[in-house]
Formats: sequence, structure tokens, C-alpha cells
Amino acid sequence: MLSDYFKPEILKKIAAGAGTPVYVYSKAVFLRQISTYKKAFRGLNALFCYSLKANSNRALCALAAGQGLGADVVSGGELYRALRAGFKPGKIIFSGVGKTAEELAYALKSDILFINAESFEEVLELEKTAAKLKKTASFSLRVNPDVAARTHKFITTGRLGGKFGVSFEEAEKIYFYAAGSKHLKAVGAQFHIGSQIYSARPYRLAAARLAGFILKMASRGVNLEYADAGGGWGVKEGFEMPFPGPLARALAAAFKGTGLKLVIEPGRSIAAPTGILLTRVLYRKRGGDKNFIIVDGAMNDLIRPALYGARHPVALLGAARGPIKKYDIVGPVCESGDFLALGAALKEPARGDLAVIYSAGAYGFSMSSNYNSRLRAPEALITGRGAWRLVRKRETLTDLTAKEV
Ligand code: LLP
Repeated sequence: MLSDYFKPEILKKIAAGAGTPVYVYSKAVFLRQISTYKKAFRGLNALFCYSLKANSNRALCALAAGQGLGADVVSGGELYRALRAGFKPGKIIFSGVGKTAEELAYALKSDILFINAESFEEVLELEKTAAKLKKTASFSLRVNPDVAARTHKFITTGRLGGKFGVSFEEAEKIYFYAAGSKHLKAVGAQFHIGSQIYSARPYRLAAARLAGFILKMASRGVNLEYADAGGGWGVKEGFEMPFPGPLARALAAAFKGTGLKLVIEPGRSIAAPTGILLTRVLYRKRGGDKNFIIVDGAMNDLIRPALYGARHPVALLGAARGPIKKYDIVGPVCESGDFLALGAALKEPARGDLAVIYSAGAYGFSMSSNYNSRLRAPEALITGRGAWRLVRKRETLTDLTAKEV
């Protein structure tokens, strides 16, 4: 149970010390998800590149780096964070459809493991940038395996017709082009079919297609080193991640014949169960036939319920009373879409009680904003029994206008 890691006593201490809303992470849960991955992939010599977009707080990144993980970054900003947190450059990969020339140069200067390119034009830009820097750019291609992962339409990415990756035909052309360039070195092939995927089946299909392609390229003289299966392993809100054994077996079986080193890019499965959003009940009211609990956290802190219809379990800390009723948990932002939970079955809280929103460790803080000029929440890390520390301060009013000129 995740609630075992986020006990009321420590949460009350954190709320008193850091205020609310506040993101609270558990070191123990984070490390456990990493060791679950290691167990599932034992013997496969896989490189885990933690996907910083899920949660790029330096304290968590440093823990991942300390466990020997690499990093998957998608912007110069994430590369900067990854390097600062202590990830070894030789274990960092850089993905994304729209890297700028400046970002490519930053990656090349940082000597990262490889750049995951997503178009011919990007590879040409990479070649130009590498030539300027007198370097050879190691790159991988993200191919689109045209596999459907049954997940939310905003986070399924492996179908043709989406903006991601290149087709196998295009990839072939790019690899052949690179073979004749002294500033390009093709080292890998990658897919990422989506996020919040609970079954190994779409991975098996995508990996079989990619493995076939890798072997075909090898027979034509293009020898790669890395087969990268992206991220996306799902984890239900309120739970730790399901054992990724089926994922490991599917990938191992598909790529065995290629002899390539396996790379995966997990984000959510490691970070989501690691964090909660801790909020405080401001007011209660009825509106029509609805009961509302108005808390001090909002969609600018956690946008997943509004954007994806995500259902994060909610728990109240305090002496809730009366019969269980259905409540919408809403925030102070001026939009009807500002809710953290809809129809949560709860007893009535008192004003000032704490409300916990579970599984907010991934795509929670990292997608937060200053909308409505709200100050971004601080982040706290539970480091042991009864012990915690602040790992990011709450923003201040002057932060809001600091960049305005
Ligand atoms: N690698 C690539 C190339 C990706 O695009 C992503 C996520 C990952 C790895 C990590 O996927 P994960 O293991 O975290 O599923 N904001 C959405 C999720 C967007 C995922 C984007 N790409 C959400 O809150 O559900």
C-alpha cells in the first residue's frame, strides 16, 4: 500500500514545515521501483535511462544516477538537469522531434551516449553541427513501428500518422546516408510506442518489427550497438508498478538474435508511485446536487485529471465525519476544468484537514505552471522514518515577475 510510505504523522510535519500545497516524494518507493526494474531485467545487461520528463527534481535524479541509471532527456534544459544531478554523460540519451541546433551542439559537447533523431532533416542538422565542432555524432533513429498501444490518445505515439519517428523505409535511407558521412555514426534504433501501457504485447510486436529491421540493416553493412524500446510501462494510480517481468521477457526474446545492447527509458513507472500532492481543505460547499471540497492545490499544480481524465486516489487526513458521500475535489483556479478528483467517495472533512492526492510523482510537478499567477509548489523528500527534507523551495511573489522587463 502506498499509504504505508506516506504516513499521516510525517505528512503533517511536512505540511507544517513547508506549507501546502506541497509535493512529497518517498526515497524508499523511488528506490524500490528501480530495484524492481533491475530484478525483472537481471541478466540482460540492459541500460535503464530514467526519463526526466516524468520528474526532474535533482534529488530524485541524483538517486537514480547513484543506482547506476542513465538518463533520457528531451531538451537542453533536461540535459542540463541530468548533468547537474550526476548522470554519467556516457549514459545519457537525447530524444525528441524538434531539437534545435543549439541543443544538438550542447549534446555533442557533453559527449552523451547518443542522440535519438526523428527525421532526415534533423540528422542533416546534426551532421552540420558535428562538423562545426569537429566531432562525430553518435545517433540512433526513432522508428515508428506502427503499433497501437491502447492508451489515452494524447500519449499513444507508435502509429504512422503521428509526429513521432520515421518509417522503416526512411530509416534505411538515413542509415545509408550516415554510412557515407565522416561526422555521423549510427549506433542505435529506437521506438517508443506510448505511455501507460500495461501489457507486454504491443512491445513484443514493436520489438519484433525493430529486430527484423536491425537484422536487415546488418545484412547490408549497417551494424548498430543499441536497441532502445523507449518507456511507457504503466502503473495504476494508487499502486506501485506491476512487475515488468513480461516486458523484460518480450524484449529479450525479440532482440536476442540481434546481439544489441538493450536500452529502456522508464519514467512514470518509477516516479508516479513515488510522490503525492499534499493539499489542505480550504472550504466545503454544495452546488446543485454536487458536494465540493475546495483545496489549496489546483490544476496548475497537477494537470493530469483535467488533461487526461486521470483518476488519482484521494485520502483525507483528519477526523472526517458523517456518512460517505461523493465529492469533487477542486482547486482555486478560475476554470471548471480545475479539479483534482471527481466523485471521490469520502467522509466530510473539516476545514484545514489535509487531503492527499496519490500517484502524483510523475508528470505532476514537471507539468506544473504558474497559471493564475499561482506560485509553484515546493517539493519535499521523505528520506527515512520520520525524516524529510525540502528538495525545492516554494516560489515567491517576486519569482513571478523576475523575468519581466
Ligand atoms: N521515452 C520517450 C521518447 C517518451 O516520449 C516518453 C514519454 C518516455 C520515454 C517515458 O514514458 P513513461 O515511462 O513515463 O510512460 N504527461 C503524460 C505522459 C506523457 C508521456 C510522454 N512521453 C501523463 O501525465 O500521463
